[in-house]
Amino acid sequence: MIFRQIFDPDSSTYSYLIGDKSSGAALLIDSVLERTDQTLQLIKQLNLNLTLAIDTHTHADHVTGLGALRDATGCKTMMGRESLANCLSNTFVDGDHLKVGNLRIEVIYCPGHTDDSYSFYLHESQSDNNQPMLFSGDTLLIRGTGRTDFQNGSAEHQYNSLFNRLLKLPDNTLVYPAHDYKGWMVSSISEEKRHNPRLQVNSRDEYIALMDGLDLPNPKMMDIAVPANQSCGDIL
Ligand SMILES: [Fe+2]
Repeated sequence: MIFRQIFDPDSSTYSYLIGDKSSGAALLIDSVLERTDQTLQLIKQLNLNLTLAIDTHTHADHVTGLGALRDATGCKTMMGRESLANCLSNTFVDGDHLKVGNLRIEVIYCPGHTDDSYSFYLHESQSDNNQPMLFSGDTLLIRGTGRTDFQNGSAEHQYNSLFNRLLKLPDNTLVYPAHDYKGWMVSSISEEKRHNPRLQVNSRDEYIALMDGLDLPNPKMMDIAVPANQSCGDIL
């Protein structure tokens, strides 16, 4: 496989380009509208053909590039079934497998940060370094977890998504989040189990109390980004 991480410094977002070497088909996870030209240039330079662009959830902090990538390449666009976006080729649900050439990416429903949050898992047999790869969206961040106080978020649901889904993946799974604000680029499930302060709780209730105690301001882009992202990045 071919793998690239693309960083948007304005929103501290990571986008991920995953290409299948044998067919040239490629997938982009969590594109950022302002990075569209750079992303298209990279896809061309790597001789890839973008067949699918997906978002882990409806972002509140940046505008998605889904629509711009679709217009430029004709790629399919997908988000989870719970998404309110009206412009998608199709939606996915828990347990689906997304095909990108010969690659198969497993879809894991992870409500909590939003009710349309998903993570994506690439089995070790498909990855270049024999380690599974998890694209965790805003559910599991490096030494953090996504906020649960808006967009139908739920600390209770996030506890379940983390402790009963993502943390049950193999310890050596590499974790690639949708954002990082401190410069971290990749982690692993075992590293996060041991060192992520949000995961050092003894019960669901303790996690809910921890998340309820966070007093976070709304993202500055929220009023623009959420409606735009419900139409694949068309700014209304
Ligand atoms: Fe988010």
